[in-house]
Amino acid sequence: ERLPELLRRMPKAELHIHIEGSLEPELIFALAQRNGVALPYASVEDLRKAYAFTNLQSFLDIYYAGASVLLKEQDFYDMAWAYFERAAADNVAHAEIFFDPQTHTARGVAMETVINGLHRACVEAGPKLGVSAALILCFLRHLSEEDAFATLEQALPFRDQFIGVGLDSSELGHPPEKFARVFARCRELGLHRVAHAGEEGPPAYVWSALDVLKVERIDHGVQSAKDPALMQRLAQDRIPLTVCPLSNLKLCVVPSLAQHNLGALLDAGLVATVNSDDPAYFGGYMNENFLQTFAATGLAARQAWQLAANSFEASFLDAAAKRAHQ
Ligand code: ADE
Ligand code: ZN
Repeated sequence: ERLPELLRRMPKAELHIHIEGSLEPELIFALAQRNGVALPYASVEDLRKAYAFTNLQSFLDIYYAGASVLLKEQDFYDMAWAYFERAAADNVAHAEIFFDPQTHTARGVAMETVINGLHRACVEAGPKLGVSAALILCFLRHLSEEDAFATLEQALPFRDQFIGVGLDSSELGHPPEKFARVFARCRELGLHRVAHAGEEGPPAYVWSALDVLKVERIDHGVQSAKDPALMQRLAQDRIPLTVCPLSNLKLCVVPSLAQHNLGALLDAGLVATVNSDDPAYFGGYMNENFLQTFAATGLAARQAWQLAANSFEASFLDAAAKRAHQ
């Protein structure tokens, strides 16, 4: 079998997808019209032209602007459903989906509206599309820990509709330890914990995500390769990294896909996975990430199988469900 067919066909789990980052320009414009929201862009093409990023922050500014069209429960459902259709087409069998409630509650959208819309799509994706799904609530790290605590409080009435918490947004200047207390509380509540670390930030942020926040996975983590002791820790404890190659390329974390360190992370024995991050902004969903990365780096079928196995191992599925995917 040709490698591209294997990459497309193999069942995989997606563990690093921001649902607001799956909002395609066409849907942004459709929702803006439906909700009477004015956009600072004249057309879909005009908006797409703004997708020329130099770093994480240059992306986040546009990403939060795009999310401003989401107001009603149906908007959140429609966004998630569009993602699930793409995921199913890429043979994604399981998805653990980030959402950023503070982006919405700050605009007066109720937590209930956000979670109910997303959760309804997650529930339907299993029977209708063959994609099992769960939600992970992310705290915005450029905001205060107090704000994160208030967000957790607002979400707790919906505790059974999300499986864990994450930490995202502007990394530099906002180290994980800023959120030590709220993550400790989430651990007491039995929530899973993940954090973006080592995307643009230093290995020290990966260490504190592990040792202070006690996260079970690291999102991105590609800067870990600069610290041999950290690499050893990640390998020994089998801490997964949810790597996002096209994101790293578009946000200038790497100069080219050919220079991406995914292969080196696998060679070091790490539980690395491939994910799309914000596919509407970075030029591709899961299979596009696999295809372009394999074409550029020369990874082969052996690594494809390893990445697929890693994606299920790294998931928060229970042991029986993981076995069913082996
Ligand atoms: N929010 C959405 N995508 C993100 C990324 N790649 N890093 C940090 N925060 C994000
Ligand atoms: Zn991300």
